[in-house]
Formats: sequence, structure tokens, C-alpha cells
Amino acid sequence: MSDPNTLIICPDADSLAARAAELIVESAREAIGQRGRFTFVLSGGSTPEKTYRHLASPKIASTVDWSKTFIFVGDERFVPFDNADSNFGMFRRSLLAGVPVSKENVFPMPTDCSSADQAARQYATTLAHFFGQAAGTSPPPSFDMLLLGLGDDGHVASLFPGKPSLAVNDAWVTSSAPGTLPPPVERVTFTFPLLNSARQVMFLVAGEKKAQAVRKILEENPAVSEAPAVGVRPDSGVLTWLVDEAAAKLLSPAIRGRAGR
Ligand code: 6PG
Repeated sequence: MSDPNTLIICPDADSLAARAAELIVESAREAIGQRGRFTFVLSGGSTPEKTYRHLASPKIASTVDWSKTFIFVGDERFVPFDNADSNFGMFRRSLLAGVPVSKENVFPMPTDCSSADQAARQYATTLAHFFGQAAGTSPPPSFDMLLLGLGDDGHVASLFPGKPSLAVNDAWVTSSAPGTLPPPVERVTFTFPLLNSARQVMFLVAGEKKAQAVRKILEENPAVSEAPAVGVRPDSGVLTWLVDEAAAKLLSPAIRGRAGR
């Protein structure tokens, strides 16, 4: 079972995206105030995409110090950035085109190398250079805010049910064969050790299709191989689940009673 520090139930997907944007801005302000920079990991998916559009709205974008913000990618489809399935392509359209973040502060996962395995190694090296730590060493570096979506099948990032990538604990980034949900392309993804090293992890989950997975993950004890999202247990960071009413509809009163706003 996932045991979030904070469960927030929002009326709908739009209000969830707006709330998520607020929490990200707060996280950025705190990180920059305390550590002089904000390291922010984006997730693919249509639910996170709504949040990026809120973040890029002039009123909200103007409240973030983008010169001290560093943007990373938690998982990617191994396709060119101009492919409709590319997460980075979506990040460019929904967020990066609308905010004054410099190219040097944005770290896409490479998809022009020889293989997804090679991309995973290359990205780990990029992270190692940024954080000044040998790639794959433990404990991994800690990102300030790491966003995650949730697949209907309980996958998180590109960590899919039953796949070997779930057991990779000696690397920060790994390749992953496609799961059962589209698109059926090779993936590159953060591993659990790197995900769980973040200071703040925030799930963004909306829509009725997610209700079964949300109930299973927040109320039962499924195995990680069955519902990978239960493997997200930050070592010392804060775990927040932001869920809209449609995705929360199967939650018990006991769990709903814990929800904040
Ligand atoms: C990906 C995402 C994936 C996504 C979930 C939820 O590359 O596909 O990283 O993990 O976040 O599938 O996606 P939706 O919000 O679109 O349902």
C-alpha cells in the first residue's frame, strides 16, 4: 500500500492541475530559498500535461525564478522529440515554450543514440555531472520535486507491471520494454532508487479510468510487480497524491477522511 504523507482530492482534472501548479511553485520557492536552485523532474502523460500548461500561464510563470530552475525528465519514449509519442515533445509544447528557462537548464533524455540502454547510460552520466556524483552510486541524488502520473495498470514513470526494470537497484536510469498500454515503444526511465531519493514526490491522477488502480494502491497491499506505483516510497522525502474526484471515487471513507485540500 502506498502511504502518502498528503492526499489531496480535487473536484476535477482542471482544479487538480491548478493545485499541482501551486504546489510546484511553493516547492520552487522553498528550494531556491534554501539551496539556491530548484531541480524539477517532469512526468509524461496527459494529466501532468495539464499542470504544465497552468505553470506556463503568464500569471503563474511569473512567480517562478526560471534562472534557478533545472528541468529533468523522469521517463521517455525512445522516439525522436518530434514524434507525437515523445514526452519531451509534449514538455516543449506545454511548458518550455511558455517559460523563460534557458536551454542549458533543461536536460532531456537522449533518444538519438543507438539504443534505449545507451540512452539510459548517457542520461545517468548527465545526472552524475550535474550533481557531481558518480553515476549509479548510492544514495542517489535528490531532486527537489519529482512528478509522476499513474497508468491504469498501476505503472509509474515507465516502470511497468512484471518488467525487469522494477528490480533494477544498481542504476539510476534504465531502459524498459513497452508495457501493455500504448505506445508500444522502448522506454527510458528513472529506477526506484532514484525516484525514491527525491525530496518531494507528487502523483497527479485524474479520471474514472484510474479509480481501480488508485483504490488498489492506496487501500490494498499489491505486490510492486502487480502495481509498480506502490514501489514509490520516498526514503526521506514527502509523498503527495493529488487525485480528482473521478479517480478517487472507489476510496473508502477512512482513506478519504485523511484527504487534505
Ligand atoms: C508515460 C508516462 C506515464 C504516464 C501515465 C499516466 O511516458 O507514459 O510517464 O507514466 O504518466 O501513463 O498518463 P495519463 O496521465 O495520460 O493517464
